[in-house]
Amino acid sequence: MNADGKVTTATLKERKQRGERIAALTAYDHLFATLLDQAGVDVILVGDSVATVMQGRDTTVPVTMDQMVYHCELVSRGCERALVVGDLPFMSYQVSVSDALKNAGRLLKEGHVEAVKLEGGSSFAPTVAKLVAAGIPVMGHVGLTPQSINQFGTYKTRGTEQDEQDRLVDDAVALEQAGAFAIVLEKVPSELGQRMAAATTVPIIGIGAGPHTDGQILVTPDMLGMFTRFRPRFVRRYRELAADIGDAVGSYCDDVRSGSFPAADESY
Ligand code: KIV
Repeated sequence: MNADGKVTTATLKERKQRGERIAALTAYDHLFATLLDQAGVDVILVGDSVATVMQGRDTTVPVTMDQMVYHCELVSRGCERALVVGDLPFMSYQVSVSDALKNAGRLLKEGHVEAVKLEGGSSFAPTVAKLVAAGIPVMGHVGLTPQSINQFGTYKTRGTEQDEQDRLVDDAVALEQAGAFAIVLEKVPSELGQRMAAATTVPIIGIGAGPHTDGQILVTPDMLGMFTRFRPRFVRRYRELAADIGDAVGSYCDDVRSGSFPAADESY
């Protein structure tokens, strides 16, 4: 954090040096961004998981740049303290470095995020270097990379074999050398999380990567028990809000139908 308590990319790195863990969550709208920011979350990611948890899609592939800009703008307006990171959606950075620059620039200029995230390893290091050189902070994302679901065909754990673990560590080091300020590591064995955190000076933010990474991120509707279509093992549910919301809405419907809502003190 800087003097006024604002979390920056630089202070995340300092957190790692001091051995202080980083708490990150996703947000997609102003209301939740405000709640998470005020609760003290360090990093708020406007994830392309908006596609699955908010838009009802099967994968993150369909979400568009315009949609990401829209969600980023809502979230960034709700945050004062947290570092706000916007996800570059599928095919917004893979075709060319010039696309990556243009689209990452849109997330900063129109979405008002402070950094972008992209999925991929060392083959994207040149893109990361160009973005960083242009003044755009980049968070990497390796391990399970959901935008590549059509290539992998499954969301199973990555890095279970030694050669893939070696390659993923090389990917993280390449992203760090290209200038990434942090790297998300998704759904890999704990020992790889530990190894990658030891191999890098930038924070490794784990999601299903065990307890040894420099921070953790979860998809907020997962950890609040609002999104219940599926539940990966790495999700800890801190509430069961889908059930609570169902109860509340059911009570409201009963009260409206019975005439007990609104009462006299709820009327003018
Ligand atoms: O889109 C997202 O929410 C993410 C997290 C799973 C890290 O990339």
